Formats: sequence, C-alpha cells, structure tokens
Amino acid sequence: MVLEDRSREYVEHRVRAGVLEQGTVDLLGSIGADARLRAEGIVHHGIELRFSRRAHRIALSELTGGRAITIYGQQEVVKDLVAARLQSGGPLHFEVDDVSLSGFERDEPRIRFRDGGGAVQVIECDFIAGCDGFHGVCRPSFPPGVLQVYERNYPFGWLGVLADVPPSTEELIYCNHERGFALHSLRSPTLSRLYLQCDPADEIGAWPDDRIWDEMHTRFATEAGWTLNEGPIVEKGITPMRGFVVEPMQLGRLYLAGDAAHIVPPTGAKGLNLAVHDVDTLAAAIAAWYERGDQSLLDAYTDTCLRRIWRVQQFSAWMTSMLHRHPRADGFDARLQLAQLEHVCRSRAAATTLAENYVGLERV
Ligand code: PHB
Repeated sequence: MVLEDRSREYVEHRVRAGVLEQGTVDLLGSIGADARLRAEGIVHHGIELRFSRRAHRIALSELTGGRAITIYGQQEVVKDLVAARLQSGGPLHFEVDDVSLSGFERDEPRIRFRDGGGAVQVIECDFIAGCDGFHGVCRPSFPPGVLQVYERNYPFGWLGVLADVPPSTEELIYCNHERGFALHSLRSPTLSRLYLQCDPADEIGAWPDDRIWDEMHTRFATEAGWTLNEGPIVEKGITPMRGFVVEPMQLGRLYLAGDAAHIVPPTGAKGLNLAVHDVDTLAAAIAAWYERGDQSLLDAYTDTCLRRIWRVQQFSAWMTSMLHRHPRADGFDARLQLAQLEHVCRSRAAATTLAENYVGLERV
C-alpha cells in the first residue's frame, strides 16, 4: 500500500530535480515504467564547466565508456509511477492524514492513518518503507538515541526558476563566478530551468524577475560572447543547501529510504538517483525474504545503502565547494577553486573522476 500525504495533482506538478543517471533509467525500464521517459527524456553526453568567463566541456560519455544522463523532470517520473501503480490495481491513497507507526520493533508493524474521506484505517503489514521525505513521520518514529545524525548546513541557498523560453544551451552549464554559482539546466526544448546561488535567508520577494535576469547575464557572461535567452518566469523558489545522513537507516521492520534518511546538496544532481538506489536495494531484500526466507539482505540494508550515500555525499560536497562562493572566502580560496577547476578540465584522470560520479557509479 502506498500512502501519500499530498494530492495527486500536487505531487505530479511540483517541480523538483531533473537529471537521471543511467542506472535510474535502467531501473525504470526494468519495471516497465519508461515508455514516456524514452520518448520525452533528453539524453546528454556532456556538461559544461564555466569559469573565468570561459567554457570547458566535460565529455561524460567519452570518459565513462558510453554512459550518459537523461533530462526528465522528477514530477514526470512521479506521474509514470502513479500510472503504473493504478494500472496494476495496487492500493494508492492520496491526501492521508494523522499517520502514526507502531510495532515495527516487535515484528508487528502497524500504520494508522486517516484516509482522504476522513475514515481512520489501520494497516497490518510485514514491512514499512519510510519513503516520506525529510519532513515525514518515519524518521521521527525511531525511539530516541537510536539514530546518529551527521549534518552540514551550507551558508548559501539556490534560487531556482523555471522559464518559458528555449534553453540557451544544449548541455547543462555549471558556472563558477565571483558573485556566486549559477546553473543553466532545462526541462524540454521550450522550458529552461536556471539556478543562482543566493543567501538562504533571502525572501523570494527580494528577487523580482529583472534582478534574476540581470544576475544571470552577469554570471554566465563569457569572453567569447554568449547569449542568454530571456522569457517569462513561470515558477521560482529558494532552497537551502545541506548535507544530512542518519545512521542506521533501519530498526526492526522499518526501513528509511531517500530523503527520509539523507539529503545531498543539489550540485551533483544526485538526490533522486540516491533515493532510487535505496528503494531498489530494499525491494531486492524484501523479495529475497518472501522468496527464500532470506533475511541477510534486509540485515545488510543500512550498510549497502550507506556505502553509496557517503560516496555521493563526498562528490556533492566536492562539486559544491568547487563551484560556490563561500561568504567568508578570500582571494586565496578563490584561486584554489580556479586551480581545481582548471585541473579537472586539463587532466583526463580528474575529468574522468567527475564524469564517472556524475553519470552514476556502478553498483557496489
Ligand atoms: C535541474 O535541472 O533541476 C538540476 C540539474 C542539475 C543539478 C541540479 C538540478 O545539479
């Protein structure tokens, strides 16, 4: 049974991440939920690093034996998964309320909730998968003292905008500029997705559209001359940047997955992909338990997930520190960043490290 706190309309339209690793695409294919993804997803074989007003391409596919990323909005993945679920006839409840968990420590998991019609229901089940995000009820259901929290809050945020204008670039641009980081991404041939590093305490009202476009022009400008297409901004919001992990990710029959257990700063484009890795690992472990009575994959769940989570945390922290301006950084720090960026662009070994992490490491 799937319980969702929000409405179907909300989860299918909220703009979130947009970069799928090869492994994520393959997984959606293996469950038969990839028809629209194959038709509408945009495959990218490289990204651009822009710094000192110059463009440098990282040839992702050439450096990784042909692996690539696919641009496809997270809300589109959600639509496809909802459709697959409804087609299979499995229960899926939207707009549930008052959710509480019990018994998972004693092998008797129970979930109590109020359904969309206001009736209280109790589910008796074998497992609870806590896929309910950073603000969900599953992580706080662990008894005090069980979870160790590791956390890093960055002193900057991302102002994200969706603009109704054809992208100004074919490939994503990650830009280091003395006024702060900027990222040019896209959602379709007619929709651009752009981000600016900002103060996480900024009110969205402090960023009228003119100021956003001025800042974009300044940060993305190149010596060779580069044109940024402007268009109506149809959505904007500010997100804080943080790294967060809890250990362990399980207790008894409750297993946390995705943002319920960990957050990565978005600079590595990894949040959704990491969540998919967790649920894939959990699904295989649950299947082994039902098919063979094998408990070993369930017991290993936390360790299996954490290996990848910390690898991805390291990559995301590295990309973040290389590309953003820290409020307390001085000229020395800025020159170290440029030295690092130049090394990544000149050394095939360093470029390969970035590329193989960006497209997604093979399963460990
Ligand atoms: C996006 O398209 O939303 C996006 C792309 C790359 C990132 C983060 C977000 O690193």
